[in-house]
Amino acid sequence: MSARQQPRTAAAVFDALGTDYEEAFAGSAAHRASLEQLLEVLPPHGRVLDIGSGTGRPTALTLSGAGHAVLGVDVSPVMVDIASRQVPGAEFRCADIRELPLEEGGFDAVCMYFALLQMSREEQAEVLHLAARVLRSGGHLAVATVPLDVEGVSGTFMGQPVEVTSFGENEFTALVEKAGFTVQSRESSMFVPALPAAVPEPQMFLLARRR
Ligand SMILES: C[S@@+](CC[C@H](N)C(=O)[O-])C[C@H]1O[C@@H](n2cnc3c(N)ncnc32)[C@H](O)[C@@H]1O
Repeated sequence: MSARQQPRTAAAVFDALGTDYEEAFAGSAAHRASLEQLLEVLPPHGRVLDIGSGTGRPTALTLSGAGHAVLGVDVSPVMVDIASRQVPGAEFRCADIRELPLEEGGFDAVCMYFALLQMSREEQAEVLHLAARVLRSGGHLAVATVPLDVEGVSGTFMGQPVEVTSFGENEFTALVEKAGFTVQSRESSMFVPALPAAVPEPQMFLLARRR
């Protein structure tokens, strides 16, 4: 592999993509359905942590538009800059979620849509445990991933060299349960990003409750 093909960090990948990511992926009906499900169970004026908040659309925009206080955290400065402009009603911070001090039990919900795929399996488990710690008892987790049994697979994502790690559907669901959650719904579907020559990719959305 030449130096130019070395997999990039999540920050470098999403700094390069910016709003191109939103244009390709924000049209997911399953993502919007997951947000609708979350809105049904959130208390009024809830506190929501959005891990890997990207451009802020659709997640932070939908939740803050419904009156919730959203803190979005993203490791990409470009994504945080875009999200801050697109969703002025939410707060965004640029940080690796594993390094940001957060109040334990301080949130009613955590969203984590497609934010884990560039982490090792151990790191994904660690971030799910982090989500459980920052949620109040009975708090809600909305999490989505691409459910494939792959570990450290090199590839290209929207022209960016990446290394991807994930789990199959049952294994990811078990990981969420092991982190301290009861999974309440699981929706799997295929999604075609709005990209030239795009192929359908699997997506899985879980809604879970902290035990
Ligand atoms: C695939 S994008 C999804 C963005 C958004 N959640 C959505 O579904 O539209 C993943 C986002 O997670 C962010 N991310 C990846 N690892 C992170 C980490 N350790 N801490 C904070 N953000 C992270 C990336 O920078 C990127 O913006």
